[in-house]
Amino acid sequence: MCGIVGYVGEKQALQVVVDGLRRLEYRGYDSAGVAVVSEGELDTRKKAGKLANLESLLGSDPLPQSTIGIGHTRWATHGGPTDLNAHPHVSEDGKVAVIHNGIIENFAELRAELMAAGVHLSSETDTEVVAHLLAATLPAVDGDLAEAMRTVCRRLSGAFTLVAVDADQPDVVVGARRNSPLVVGRGEGENFLASDVAAFIAHTRFAIELGQDQVVELRRESVTVTDFDGGPADVTEFEVTWDASAAEKGGYDTFMAKEIAEQPKAVSDTMLGRIGVDGQLKLDEMRLAENDLREIDKVVVVACGTAYHAGMVAKYALEHWVRIPCEVELASEFRYRDPVVGPGTLIIAISQSGETMDTIMALRYAREQGSKVLAICNTQGSTIPRESDAVLYTHAGPEVAVASTKAFLTQLVACYLVALYVAQVRGNKYGDEIAMIVRELQAMPQKVDLVLDTSEEMKELAEELKDARSVLFIGRHVGFPVALEGALKLKELAYMHAEGFAAGELKHGPIALLEDGLPVICIVPSPAGRSVLHEKIVSNIQEVRARGARTIVIAEEGDESVVPYADHLVRIPACPTLLQPLVATVPLQVFAAAMAAAKGHDVDQPRNLAKSVTVE
Ligand code: G6P
Repeated sequence: MCGIVGYVGEKQALQVVVDGLRRLEYRGYDSAGVAVVSEGELDTRKKAGKLANLESLLGSDPLPQSTIGIGHTRWATHGGPTDLNAHPHVSEDGKVAVIHNGIIENFAELRAELMAAGVHLSSETDTEVVAHLLAATLPAVDGDLAEAMRTVCRRLSGAFTLVAVDADQPDVVVGARRNSPLVVGRGEGENFLASDVAAFIAHTRFAIELGQDQVVELRRESVTVTDFDGGPADVTEFEVTWDASAAEKGGYDTFMAKEIAEQPKAVSDTMLGRIGVDGQLKLDEMRLAENDLREIDKVVVVACGTAYHAGMVAKYALEHWVRIPCEVELASEFRYRDPVVGPGTLIIAISQSGETMDTIMALRYAREQGSKVLAICNTQGSTIPRESDAVLYTHAGPEVAVASTKAFLTQLVACYLVALYVAQVRGNKYGDEIAMIVRELQAMPQKVDLVLDTSEEMKELAEELKDARSVLFIGRHVGFPVALEGALKLKELAYMHAEGFAAGELKHGPIALLEDGLPVICIVPSPAGRSVLHEKIVSNIQEVRARGARTIVIAEEGDESVVPYADHLVRIPACPTLLQPLVATVPLQVFAAAMAAAKGHDVDQPRNLAKSVTVE
């Protein structure tokens, strides 16, 4: 949601800012705007719709040359996605421009106060009040923009990243951060501010994480960070480990296609350095004391969207390998139900972006109850790992397509690693048992690679099914979260009704949905050891087919028992059922992307969605 870029340096700011905004497009937005300061004048351009609209406006009505500028992509909350509501918002005297990500909760009260003072507000946004408040504050603080920002921030409630420039201070960009992401990029003779490092990675890899309630003053040669009272602030510097090419399409038609193809490597990278030669787990980097792990009596996973589905798989792994109770909760529901958590609970917060507000609020609540929080996250320097007691990073690299693919697979790997590590520390499994499971896990990147061979057949299937009104997905055990994930991908990308069910629940209601030709995708667990689970789902497939539905069966190589009941059979490599989501999900990702393409939708940026949901 909302992308923010700020620049001060020697280059043409407009170019740097617009390039940065393009790299943040994946966050989801519906309007865009920029502001530059030149010769004591502030100039802005903004436009509803995609960046291309803003660029054509800039073509017909160019901005003056400048080496200082800010830019914004807006995902509408307060006020529709119009030209007028697009950011930047400017003070009445035309001198101060502000961009914002988040929601200012007390904006109605501030708006009323400004109106009573005779200020004319020209948009419906919560952001505009900040531009007017800054302008009103500047005279009282000797025109010091950073001090004005601190003063204004002390009056705001809610979530906000704010970035401002002032026509009277042509060498400074000021940012503020509470609850919404903001990272500093440190260059030579130039500095950057952005919602995430992707915006400035083409210029520098050196970054600074900003903490909660901090204000940053950015000049060409300096970066000064304080708290909201002007006191010194602790910041963490870090170096980004990937480069600009990792966030480009690299010859693929879409980012999603590239990210699906990168999954074998992402899975393997997430295991790298975490397994010893003896097959034992080495996760000291997590910074979670072994004693704490021995003392916990319950695990609660909190996450949203795709990450929640990874959490569901974590429950099966933790309960099976560690014999510890595990609950999985949608982060947005967690703190509102008075959950029973305390010092004996380990909370696992899973998030690709590390900025999902629902997950942040859930982990804050859990920490207030005395629970320890372990983050599984893909984004260095983001809020969730920073506010957690421990972190295990997934090494998916930057994920740009809104619909999560490689991040999901790496979240699964991280969950398996954590579950095995806890089993190792608590002595639930002998060393050789752990080593055996680890060997199976280490074989998975190659199996993920093999399953990519099903891509062509999934694309053909999508072409055949593109006019279906609805697609259902069924699975049991870890096949259930895979079914949910397959349905979520299809909803996100193909904008169609898709629903995942626990196959056993079918008879308790959803079976009424079945009709002639309705596609039902069935995830079949490994038949190894003649499992009851396997037998049960084969019966469920027969029930579906008996009612005229069209069965698309995803089953492992060599499983002949499903052949008579499959209208279409997709083969996946054999592996233990618990690890199967790593391969079973992949054809569903390809299917959803192909459905979207067949319907002419934007695969990387589906309508209405944001990759990083930074409001509750
Ligand atoms: C949004 C995205 C989903 C993602 C979810 C959680 O809804 O569109 O793809 O799964 O947020 O995001 P997170 O960054 O916390 O994993």
